[in-house]
Amino acid sequence: MEWRKWTEKASEITLSIISWVVFLCLDFLDIVLCNVYKVLDDFLEGKASRTCYCVKTEEVDANGVDDDRESEHSGTLCGSRRNNIFRTLMGSLRISSAPRRGWKNGCTFCGKHRWSDCGCDSCIEWTQNSEDLRLHVVVKEPLRVSSHDCGKKDAQNVIFIHGFLASSSYWAETIFPNLSDSMKQNYRLFAVDLLGFGRSPKPSDCFYTLRDHLEMIEKSVIGPYKLDSFHIVAHSMGCVIALALAAEHIKLIKSITLIAPPYIPSNKDASLMALQRLAARKVWPPLSFGSAIMSWYEHLGRSVCFIFCRNHKTWEAILKLIMRKRELHFTVMDLTRHTHHSGWHSMHNVICGGAKSMDRYFDTLREGMVKIKVIQGDRDQVVPLECSANVKMKVPEADVNIVPNANHSSVVLGREKELVRDLESVWSAVAISEDKKME
Ligand SMILES: *[C@@H]1O[C@H](CO)[C@@H](O)[C@H](O)[C@H]1NC(C)=O
Ligand SMILES: *[C@@H]1O[C@H](CO)[C@@H](O)[C@H](O)[C@H]1NC(C)=O
Repeated sequence: MEWRKWTEKASEITLSIISWVVFLCLDFLDIVLCNVYKVLDDFLEGKASRTCYCVKTEEVDANGVDDDRESEHSGTLCGSRRNNIFRTLMGSLRISSAPRRGWKNGCTFCGKHRWSDCGCDSCIEWTQNSEDLRLHVVVKEPLRVSSHDCGKKDAQNVIFIHGFLASSSYWAETIFPNLSDSMKQNYRLFAVDLLGFGRSPKPSDCFYTLRDHLEMIEKSVIGPYKLDSFHIVAHSMGCVIALALAAEHIKLIKSITLIAPPYIPSNKDASLMALQRLAARKVWPPLSFGSAIMSWYEHLGRSVCFIFCRNHKTWEAILKLIMRKRELHFTVMDLTRHTHHSGWHSMHNVICGGAKSMDRYFDTLREGMVKIKVIQGDRDQVVPLECSANVKMKVPEADVNIVPNANHSSVVLGREKELVRDLESVWSAVAISEDKKME
């Protein structure tokens, strides 16, 4: 027994030493890449091209802008917050460049894609109609079986919001076909591709703040379909956007179902805390290592996207050949359907930057007595299990369901039938309590 404890301790220490060395090397590599991209960007896009966040410090923030939107930008974007010894030591060795000047207001949707992003037809399709940009939305209208149904109550609306590196297919190809008959008849379902993901526009001059994401959902779903009430279902990163949307439309919201919500309460520096908890700098397991690289290193992340996202067509062809399949699974395709710019900013501005507002959103929902359901797998390897407990602590009325033997993705994919049953019970409970109020 003692022996096992000892080996466990030893392997823990070894792992942290390896992590420390590996991340030290990555720190250095990121600085090197910073200079490489600086030269390439200047050469390929002209001097006017943007600079990175390496030189951005919070002092620049404080003095540079007096724009309300500024608070929408996560502190974790600043190079000085993502500590890198080499950046501090060698700041002066970096090829000089002015710090990023001020922020633009929201997206102006310039149609040009960057040289390091994919320019295939499907990736830049949105630029052809850049006047009135909308998200890609999959709509499933209720089936009205016979003319008798006309007199029935109006169908209820549900908005589905996917997580990081996913798309509307996450719901439209799994949950939608598995609905029960009564749900098919009584609910109108909307699944959006978030701004910067899937088939939605991916402007390179937008900072993908929580507000940008909300405005696009309002402009693409709530406005055009004239929703006067709706339920929300969201997964992972989508939960942050869902909470913001619900708090903003508190009069319209009927219920909110959060699947694996990344809720890490913190008194100070919530965004850095969220980054440290959700993308811990560890080399093992591989999934943590991957998300640490993509979240802490702007230029390494850009290189990974350059290799995979920019060349997604080639990779897909290779994968199909290897796996001898005509079609790849949508979860594989969705991994590369973004630009580094959209992924990097959504990670920081939504997941980290949104962390400081989550308490406020939950307070608003609680005051509005909105039904909150939380579902998470007990083997979740992305969002710590304590997040669900955090919600329960914040809102004791919330209904928290921990699913045994399910991880971050198999909590939805593979248990569609169970999830549909859960959703149905949430929505019908709301309908019943509304009917009671009417009487
Ligand atoms: C999640 O669970 C599913 C089903 O059990 C499994 O196929 C998948 O590999 C798991 N994902 C990870 C990242 O462990
Ligand atoms: C329903 O979900 C299951 C997985 O639970 C899936 O295999 C099946 O294809 C889905 N049904 C339909 C009609 O798509």
